[in-house]
Amino acid sequence: MASQGNGQHVLLTGANGFVASHILAILLERGFAVTATVRSQTKADDIIQTHPSWKGKINFVIVSDFTSQHPFDELFENTKNSAVPLTYVIHTASPLKFNVKDIQKEMIEPAVMGTTEILKSAHRHGGATLKRFVLLGSAVSVLDSFEDITREGRPYTENDWNPVTVQQAINRKDTVLGYNVSKTQGEQTAWEFMKTHRPKFDLTVINPDIITGPMIHPISGSGSINETNHFAIASFIDGTHKTVEDVRFPFYHFVDVRDVAQSHVDALTNPAAGSQRILLISGLITPQLVVNIIRRHFPALEDRVPEGNPSQILPDGIHPTGWDMRVSLDILSKGRKEGSWKYIELEQSVTDTVQSMIDRNVL
Ligand SMILES: NC(=O)c1ccc[n+]([C@@H]2O[C@H](COP(=O)([O-])OP(=O)(O)OC[C@H]3O[C@@H](n4cnc5c(N)ncnc54)[C@H](OP(=O)(O)O)[C@@H]3O)[C@@H](O)[C@H]2O)c1
Repeated sequence: MASQGNGQHVLLTGANGFVASHILAILLERGFAVTATVRSQTKADDIIQTHPSWKGKINFVIVSDFTSQHPFDELFENTKNSAVPLTYVIHTASPLKFNVKDIQKEMIEPAVMGTTEILKSAHRHGGATLKRFVLLGSAVSVLDSFEDITREGRPYTENDWNPVTVQQAINRKDTVLGYNVSKTQGEQTAWEFMKTHRPKFDLTVINPDIITGPMIHPISGSGSINETNHFAIASFIDGTHKTVEDVRFPFYHFVDVRDVAQSHVDALTNPAAGSQRILLISGLITPQLVVNIIRRHFPALEDRVPEGNPSQILPDGIHPTGWDMRVSLDILSKGRKEGSWKYIELEQSVTDTVQSMIDRNVL
C-alpha cells in the first residue's frame, strides 16, 4: 500500500479536525503529496506540534472563511503549476458544533458555501489531472430527522434523503436539525453541481453515522474533546450524565474514525467508488452499551461512570431504524487490496477512545 500515493497529490480541507487528522496520517503513510487547508497559521503549527514527524511533509494553505469571495481560487491556481499537480480533493471542513446561536450563518452557510466554492474552483482551475472529489458527507443526509423512533422502520439505503428543511431547523431553534440540514444541503449542492457543470473529475460522497475513536488531532484540555467523542463517550465519564436511563442520543449507529479515514483514502483510487454515495455504519451505539464497555475495561474509572441497567441495551421506547449496507459494503470491499471490508466494532472503538483520552490527559 505504501506506493499508492506515488506521484499523486491530494488537497485535504480542515486538516486539523478529528476525522481529517486520521485521513492526513494515512495519506502521508501511503506516500501522497498533501496540500492541507486550515483556518489559521496557528492551527497548522498545532498539527506539526502534535505530530513533529510530519514537519516539512505538508503544504499548508490558510483558507479562513468559506463565505468570502472565491476562497479556493488562488490555492488551485498555485498548485496547478506545482511539480505534482492536484489529482484528488478530500473535502472534510464543515461546522460540527451544536452550541451555536445562528443556525443559518454558523452552520448552514459555511457547509453549503464551502462545498460550492471548492467545487467551483476545482472545476475552473483544477486542470486535467484532477480525477476525483471525495466529500465527507454524513448519514444525517440519508436518514429522516422526523422518523418515529419508537418503532423500527424500513432500513435506510443509499437512495434515501433526509427531508429536513432550513425553516424547520430555524423555527425550532434546534441545532441538531441545523446540522442535519447543513450536511443534507451541502451534499445535495455537490450532486447538483456535478449534474449542471459536468466537470472532468467525478464525485464520491461518504456518509458516516456517529464517529467515535481515538483522537490524534491537536487538542488541549478537556473542553477540546471533539463534539461526537464527547457526547457519545466522555460525557459518561466527566460528570455530565449522572444516570444512563434518561440519556438519549440523536442517532444510534456509529463508525470508528479509523474506518472513516481508510474509506476516504481507498475511495480516491477505487473505480467502484466513482459517482457513488457510500454509507459507513459499523453497528449500534447506545448510552448503555457505551457505559458497559467503559466499566468493563477501565475499572479505575468505575466510580465516575454511572452503571445504568447493564442488561437493557436500548433506552425505553427507542427502536432505531437500521441500515441496508449491501451496496456500500460491496464498494468498500472493492477498494481494499484483500477484497473485503471489516469494520472496527464498538468495544474496540470505545476502549481505544477512552485510552486516547487518558493518554492525552483530557478526561
Ligand atoms: N464526528 C462525526 O460524528 C461525524 C459524522 C458524520 C460526518 N462528519 C463530518 O466529518 C467532518 C469533520 O468532522 P469532525 O468530527 O472531524 O469535526 P471537527 O474535529 O470539529 O473538525 C471540523 C473541521 O472543519 C473545520 N470547520 C468547522 N467550521 C468551519 C467553517 N465555518 N469554515 C471553515 N472550516 C470549518 C474545522 O476547523 P476549525 O478547527 O478551525 O474550527 C475543522 O478543521 C465534518 O464535515 C462533519 O460533518 C462527522
